[in-house]
Amino acid sequence: MKIFNNKKDLRDCLLEHKSNKKTIGFVPTMGALHDGHLSLIEKASEKNDIVVVSIFVNPTQFDNVEDLKKYPKTIENDIKLLSAASCDILFSPKVEEIYSENITSEKFDFDGLEHQMEGKFRDGHFNGVGTVVKTLFKIVAPDKAYFGQKDFQQLQIIKKMVKKNHLNVKIKGCPIFREQDGLAMSSRNIRLSKEHREIAPFVYKTLKKVKKKFSHKSISEINKWLENQFKKQPLLTLEYFTIADEKALETAKTKEPNKKYRAFIAVFAGEIRLIDNIRLKH
Ligand code: PAF
Repeated sequence: MKIFNNKKDLRDCLLEHKSNKKTIGFVPTMGALHDGHLSLIEKASEKNDIVVVSIFVNPTQFDNVEDLKKYPKTIENDIKLLSAASCDILFSPKVEEIYSENITSEKFDFDGLEHQMEGKFRDGHFNGVGTVVKTLFKIVAPDKAYFGQKDFQQLQIIKKMVKKNHLNVKIKGCPIFREQDGLAMSSRNIRLSKEHREIAPFVYKTLKKVKKKFSHKSISEINKWLENQFKKQPLLTLEYFTIADEKALETAKTKEPNKKYRAFIAVFAGEIRLIDNIRLKH
């Protein structure tokens, strides 16, 4: 595996691969890698000749300085995992390499997707994500890029950004990877206390019950039921729960036959924020 910190050297290496007609699969990450990331890398290697992974903790997508400071950084272990996986190239730039002196976000219009769910609680988050992903796409110029569906809203926003900016990259959404007890894998999980880690699978267990109820209960009944479940759970604080259509991500009040729905949730387990979602059928 080759490691680059500098975009010029990375570009030169990729240009050589491209001149040899090699396809490039790209997995952008913020490091603290887990099996979910490794599954994206495996998908990328099945469909592309060369797999590039980036590790970059992007400052502009954090609305909370403490969260940025405490974001787990495990670069040595990440390099070991990537060397054993199908990663050909790691790009691990410093902040200046991506932003020069100007650590700010571009302002995007994602046709309203950015105002739903996470957008209501994480000010400027999606402008930060859009900025760094667009910059990384310009540097790597991948054929395909891989993202997990745990961040379903992020995935839809990146698809929108690619379409609006006419970027020549195919975005692939991959299934959520879970621990054996159902907790969605996330780099932040390693910061959970023992008692919060034990209770955290409650989030997915509750989403699975929502999925069962969706066929025969109204959305308002499900919303009330879910709020009550979390009121009984002192270690978890519900930030939001919403059933929304997969395309516009707008909160649904009634079920329309031609729309696809998902349930989305954000919960605090102590100071760690967990998000998850599940596809619904009606
Ligand atoms: O999902 C993530 O890890 C980040 O939001 C991403 C896409 C790497 C951009 O910093």
